[in-house]
Amino acid sequence: MADVFDLTIIGSGPGGYVAAIRAAQLGMKVDVVEKWATHGGTCLNIGCIPSKALLHASELFEEAGHGFKALGIDIPAPVLNLKQMMTHKTKTVAANVGGVDYLFKKNKVTAFQGIGTIAAPGKVHVTPQNGAMIEIETKNIVIASGSVSANLSGIEIDEKKVVTSTGALNLEKVPGKLLVIGAGVIGLELGSVWARLGSQVTVVEYLDRILPDMDSEVTWQFQRMLQKQGIEFKLSSKVSSVDKKDDGSLKVSVEPAKGGAAELLDADVVLVAIGRKPHTDGLGLDIVGVALDERGRVRVDDHYKTSVDGIYAIGDVIAGPMLAHKAEDEGIAVAEILSGQAGHVNYAAIPSVVYTNPEVASVGKTEDELKAEGIEYKIGKFPFSANGRAKAMLATQGFVKILADVETDRVLGAHIVGKNAGEMIHELVVLMEFSGAAEDLARSTHAHPTLSEAVREAALSLGDGAIHI
Ligand code: FAD
Ligand code: NAI
Repeated sequence: MADVFDLTIIGSGPGGYVAAIRAAQLGMKVDVVEKWATHGGTCLNIGCIPSKALLHASELFEEAGHGFKALGIDIPAPVLNLKQMMTHKTKTVAANVGGVDYLFKKNKVTAFQGIGTIAAPGKVHVTPQNGAMIEIETKNIVIASGSVSANLSGIEIDEKKVVTSTGALNLEKVPGKLLVIGAGVIGLELGSVWARLGSQVTVVEYLDRILPDMDSEVTWQFQRMLQKQGIEFKLSSKVSSVDKKDDGSLKVSVEPAKGGAAELLDADVVLVAIGRKPHTDGLGLDIVGVALDERGRVRVDDHYKTSVDGIYAIGDVIAGPMLAHKAEDEGIAVAEILSGQAGHVNYAAIPSVVYTNPEVASVGKTEDELKAEGIEYKIGKFPFSANGRAKAMLATQGFVKILADVETDRVLGAHIVGKNAGEMIHELVVLMEFSGAAEDLARSTHAHPTLSEAVREAALSLGDGAIHI
């Protein structure tokens, strides 16, 4: 008789693989079904990891070209070896997906390769690329099937000239002109990569601002920083068509979002980065009766249970920010819940980082949200131009902004634009996890000289005042 598993997880992205490891650690017999040849999902294969490999390499290329001289390092102009940069990216991906294989073996998680379909509660069919279908018997199922890029109707993606993030991470040469549709996280991160490597980048955004979910004061200033780097923005605008010419060039028609005369822009590559949508194809959800919400996401309760007993869902395929660490934390929570513990995710303290230069990092409420909700708040701010370490690093762009409750001093949100903002945000995440006040942060000693002192100074400015400004 075939094995009966305690838990079968469909999808091996950050949600699925982390759920598998935690469930195995808690004593469950676990298997994971993954249709791709490698584990790690969008994040490790075509998302977080390859994009950060290219962001890091292109940032150093740009610094070597433009930043070293002022520090007293005279070198000839650096020469781009794009093939080697892509090799670095490929090796980084391989090391990370190999790490998941190792962790599965270490934790005795069984891996099945093929498309997973839920035939009934407690039954998953795996259809491998070659070979016969496998039937898995299991007590519980977690859907962790992630998301895929959204597209605009009438625009055909070929992943060479008209690309999603996947194609934009794989271009064989630097496009002369790159037109990006969408000033969200992907548009700005991958737009930055190619701008640093020599592309002329234009970003077309439907709304009147970039990064619409982030604090607007932060994003207005950030937009100016990107413009200084040569990235051009067309806000309140939409792309109505992309025509491929016989010579391989593209003509892109851009109109005001509210309608009006179109202008034609030339591009060598167009990146469509207008968001991602839940990935539910092939899972058989309609057959077993798993309900979706109005945006096609799997509907779950507070314990990640779908409308069908024994079937759960986590990560990008359910509501909430499409972030790897949100998926991971839901993976841990669902494993804990299934083993009888009180698994929980604090959605009020999930950080979000844009890995550009400077970085933008955020946790909790934005000032725009506090205004809209009528909450009385106070603002503590500190610029990196007044921070000693930032001056030594020539990294004085940006500032820290902390929002706290007027009466209780409790921190409600924090926003940082600046070098290493993505590392610094975590002291605010921990503070918010403990419902901390700005004074708690202001009274914590910070090592000198560090960029993090700017975070403390912003907290000090919410009390008796910052020292260094
Ligand atoms: P996924 O990672 O999408 O994994 C789902 C897996 O399920 C896939 O491997 C898929 O093949 C598999 N699958 C689907 N259906 C089936 C089926 N029927 N049978 C078998 N297998 C199936 N987030 C961050 O937090 N930080 C970042 O820096 C970041 N950078 C990103 C950069 C890019 C370019 C992109 C596209 C995304 C980025 N993200 C980032 C978002 C992040 O990748 C996702 O939030 C995260 O991967 C979601 O994890 P998941 O486990 O829910 O799904
Ligand atoms: P996004 O939701 O971040 O941004 C999409 C942008 O496109 C928005 O500004 C939106 O207003 C705009 N837009 C939508 N339709 C448009 C249209 N027709 N014309 C012009 N603009 C239009 O989505 P993005 O950048 O595609 O990223 C997808 C997901 O991946 C995000 O949810 C993000 O969380 C995740 N991600 C996270 C990263 C990180 O954490 N550093 C990096 C990359 C992706």
